[in-house]
Amino acid sequence: MKEQKTMITMELEGRKIRVPEGLTVIEALWDTGHELNRGIGCLSGLCGACTVAFLEAGAQRVKFGLGCQVVVEEGMNVIMLPYFPSRVARYDMKSLEDPLGVLSEMYPELYSCNDCKACNICPEWIDVAGVMKKAKEEDFFPAAERVMDCHMCGLCASRCPKSIAPQFVGLYIQRSCARQRPIPANLQKRLKEVESLKNDEEFGKILTMSDEALRDFCRKTVEG
Ligand code: FES
Repeated sequence: MKEQKTMITMELEGRKIRVPEGLTVIEALWDTGHELNRGIGCLSGLCGACTVAFLEAGAQRVKFGLGCQVVVEEGMNVIMLPYFPSRVARYDMKSLEDPLGVLSEMYPELYSCNDCKACNICPEWIDVAGVMKKAKEEDFFPAAERVMDCHMCGLCASRCPKSIAPQFVGLYIQRSCARQRPIPANLQKRLKEVESLKNDEEFGKILTMSDEALRDFCRKTVEG
């Protein structure tokens, strides 16, 4: 006998809908026939394309999250957030002699930050205002560490009254700090393997596999 799914009622993009419980916001949108032309990338909580704002039943405070990760609930009210335009500096990191030394040229607006903390709405709970403060104080390595979980969703930028795009400032600092650190030994080894085309034969085999053979190959690889 087919298992009966429990249904929930909620509001999605301004419409009352009924969907099976346990779906993510993106799955609920698909389930109710919404055409999604934007806002979906990895479906794994990594790319940050799918930011949503939601209000749980009986709650007063709007929360933010990633549509591919937030699971819908009875009485929830959710909307997908649009892409927010932000200025991004253009640079060739390799050609910069002292990238951290020219942060103020790349992102001069950073120095207009007055620590209002409006940007602290990160779906990954990053203390964005704290990162900007560290950046202004030139405490770059802790700033880079703190921003490690950033998905580049840009929600913080949408709230900044000074038009700072913290996600791009954070990325610039991360890249700059990485330039100053030695490449880890295991990464060096992997890069050499890629350059020497060591695994090309193996990749070639994978590309020509049928779906079934590929599934079998993956299963065996995971099971060791
Ligand atoms: S689709 Fe990439 S984080 Fe949700």
